[in-house]
Amino acid sequence: MAPRKIIIDTDPGQDDAVAILLALASPEELDVLGITAVAGNVPLALTEKNARIVCELAKKTDTPVFAGCSEPMARKLVTAEHVHGKSGLDGPQLADPTMALQDMHAVDFLINALRSEAPGTVTLVPIGPLTNLGVAFSRAPDIIDRVQEIVIMGGAYFEVGNITPAAEFNIYVDPEAADIVFKSGVPLVAMPLDVTHKALTTRARVDAFAGLGNEVGRMVAEWTSFFERFDKEKYGSEGAPLHDPCTIAYLLQPDLFSGRHVNVEVELTSELTRGMTVADWWRVTQRPANATFMGDVDADAFFRLLTDRLARL
Ligand code: BDR
Ligand code: CA
Repeated sequence: MAPRKIIIDTDPGQDDAVAILLALASPEELDVLGITAVAGNVPLALTEKNARIVCELAKKTDTPVFAGCSEPMARKLVTAEHVHGKSGLDGPQLADPTMALQDMHAVDFLINALRSEAPGTVTLVPIGPLTNLGVAFSRAPDIIDRVQEIVIMGGAYFEVGNITPAAEFNIYVDPEAADIVFKSGVPLVAMPLDVTHKALTTRARVDAFAGLGNEVGRMVAEWTSFFERFDKEKYGSEGAPLHDPCTIAYLLQPDLFSGRHVNVEVELTSELTRGMTVADWWRVTQRPANATFMGDVDADAFFRLLTDRLARL
């Protein structure tokens, strides 16, 4: 079977970097048409640069990287240096990338790619705030029906929030864009905190990355060790959640995850709960289901998959 065409929309971020590496390590299953950067964990100038650093680390410099929106659709940008460090990829010492950024804006790339590829053959994988997708869908509504599926890292229900008591970071930063995506009618799979908080690094799992004997393994071990400190302190957990790689792992091995196809709405107006994803997990309303909201993951199998694939780079 031909590999599935995907576009990764991202704000690297250490866990974004691991997601990109997992995708680039899996060319038999996934054809990464492009990587579109968005402002999120850190400002756009850093996320697009970090995306190129990750492609170079994977030795996949033919992967086109596009810079997209530098501000959310209707709000001021909120960033997360407190989690990811000043560069977004704090941890190991990193050289500046030499591969070029594409000239085209990420939103134009998304629109062009969806118009030029056969309908229903491109999957979008947003693992940062949803601004690029929200702008593309608003500007070119004809592309919406051409998307095969959206597999998103974002939201939370039982885990509630990580950037506010009620909201998960990716949705909180640009709730208007998230609302457009959740209402788009495109088949949507969401990896909320409920599932990503079960994909936790442990000493043994980080040691397995470090022991791969390649540069990618060493970098991932250093990135995850840096990224861990914040979550360990905050949650008292053994390690850090590898949020974003859950999306790519789902595309490679969907049976690792389980969830429910339910209605999910994004709170836009309340100052207190802005960006909350209200998931009708118990199906107590008649609101139509619009997303498969994941709740569980086989974490050992997830880390086995990730480690095996990173060994290939
Ligand atoms: C999400 O926010 C970012 O900090 C991570 O990269 C992930 O995409 C988790 O809430
Ligand atoms: Ca991210």
